[in-house]
Amino acid sequence: MCGIVGILGKNEVAPQLVEALRRLEYRGYDSAGIATVNGSALDRRRATGKLVNLSDLLVHEPLAGKAGIGHTRWATHGAATVANAHPHRAGGVAVVHNGIIENFRELREELEAAGVVFESQTDTETVAHLTARHLASGMTPKDAAFATVDRLEGAFALAFLFEHEPDLMIAARKGSPLAIGHGDGEMFIGSDAIALAPMTDRITYLEEGDRAVVTRAGAEIHDAAGRRANRAMTQIQIDATRIEKSGYRHFMAKEIAEQPAVLADALAHYVRDGKLHLPDVDFTGVDRLTLVACGTAHYACHVAKYWFEQIARLPVDIDIASEFRYRDPVLSKDSWALFVSQSGETADTLAALRHAQDQVARVVAVVNVTTSSIARESDLALPILAGVEVGVASTKAFSCQLLVLYLLALKAAQDRGIDVSAQIADLGMLPGLMNQALGMGKAIAKVAEELAEAQDILFLGRGAMFPMALEGALKLKEISYIHAEAYASGELKHGPIALIDAHVPVIVFAPHDALFDKTISNMQEVMARHGKVLLISDSEGVAEAGQGCWKTLTLPTIAPQLAPILYAIPAQLLAYHTAVAKGTDVDQPRNLAKSVTVE
Ligand code: F6R
Repeated sequence: MCGIVGILGKNEVAPQLVEALRRLEYRGYDSAGIATVNGSALDRRRATGKLVNLSDLLVHEPLAGKAGIGHTRWATHGAATVANAHPHRAGGVAVVHNGIIENFRELREELEAAGVVFESQTDTETVAHLTARHLASGMTPKDAAFATVDRLEGAFALAFLFEHEPDLMIAARKGSPLAIGHGDGEMFIGSDAIALAPMTDRITYLEEGDRAVVTRAGAEIHDAAGRRANRAMTQIQIDATRIEKSGYRHFMAKEIAEQPAVLADALAHYVRDGKLHLPDVDFTGVDRLTLVACGTAHYACHVAKYWFEQIARLPVDIDIASEFRYRDPVLSKDSWALFVSQSGETADTLAALRHAQDQVARVVAVVNVTTSSIARESDLALPILAGVEVGVASTKAFSCQLLVLYLLALKAAQDRGIDVSAQIADLGMLPGLMNQALGMGKAIAKVAEELAEAQDILFLGRGAMFPMALEGALKLKEISYIHAEAYASGELKHGPIALIDAHVPVIVFAPHDALFDKTISNMQEVMARHGKVLLISDSEGVAEAGQGCWKTLTLPTIAPQLAPILYAIPAQLLAYHTAVAKGTDVDQPRNLAKSVTVE
């Protein structure tokens, strides 16, 4: 993961680097650091923990210079210490890196055998030492950096800064994304365009294997074979104010609350005059779908499997992206593969997409960031239109992924001759019902005070509520650090029921639908063993089965197929309020990062 930035500016760059890193902190916050060239001197400052520690350090130990690089770290090789923090420096070069250098052990042994002494456990330090050795042998900075990059295996986005070179940065990318920003007499490098948004909206995305020689006059780009390459410059629409909390205590709270509005926008985009508006999507002749993603996006795919199969009668395989290509799945030219990703940069999902590319009829991406690698490398990218999601725990992106997948399922049904006009009509109610569900916030905060005391929590659901249970458990564990597991309710008696006692809260998602009675029977099995049940249902469900439950939460009644989108709200609010009650870092939970760009 990690975020990197580089600036050849007109003014002092340290404050700009820190601001850009603030925008990249979603990629990791184990440590942060910057290096600048001031005249000819190369110097750096590094601090562990969040970016604020680096800002504080810079107050006492400022760093001058109009050229600089910066890094925010999600630790892969070596603990979160100052020595392991980037930039890494050797001789006259400083380097920041996002990704993993897979052959770093071999390179490190080679360098150590030649007498190099390492000061960190990172893979990145090998890059600095290799470059320093090339410089010492008389190579130019460009040749030294390029020769180093030639030796690297794995995934990387790199930025190099050199002593005595206040008008030069070298950038290179393989596997990890990297954007070059164009200013007037200024140039920028960033892991994404958002980092550069306040400084420029003119962006060139480096392609796989590209290296760039960046000066204040512009960027000279070379492809992996060393040939000069022309890469298009695009104008990015980025609202620079959009990463504000707007009065909410946390980004996560803001993003949960935004769901009715963003879903309404997505609906307006994809449903017009009561008809589906997906002009590039035609499922005629498609006989199978493969849906691939990670984490929350994978649970969205899991819900979508029920929709595609039940509504369109189209068979669906779902895969966790990190397993997909190593499993060497059987794909066919009559099938489509859909890759779902909020960031569009998740390394496992991107690798899975590349694996499927020549084996299926069409690769479709369902993404939030439309300029991302996954969007750019797919045959068709459908935006989920959630807007920027800052909280590490995905909320509004999840419900928007669900909505777009639901619309795709309806389109598949339509293309297979099935009438879905009733389902399309039901969609109009969704934003209003989500708004009503948000009204449960206070009641959920009360329940959460007690949940915060629990050591373990179980989630149960049947049908499409099973992946919702999985999502509820994931959300809870990632931000409250409480151990949580989810099971298909019918599966509980095959082992996990042994976990039930009077101390384990069991949260049951059970809308009053065709599966309600079955789910409630499983819930009764829990209560018979003194399990503490929180039933989440609609008024009919709570009236019928609420008696004897520890707590109940009543959601508005909704068309059964749309229930997963609505039930996302209590799942998210339970996790949010439990985390608030525990006092954890809701927006930046420990060990996590928003964009997972390493395998
Ligand atoms: C959990 C969460 C993660 C992501 C996963 C995939 O709240 O956010 O599980 O869903 O890392 O990320 P994207 O969607 O960016 O590919």
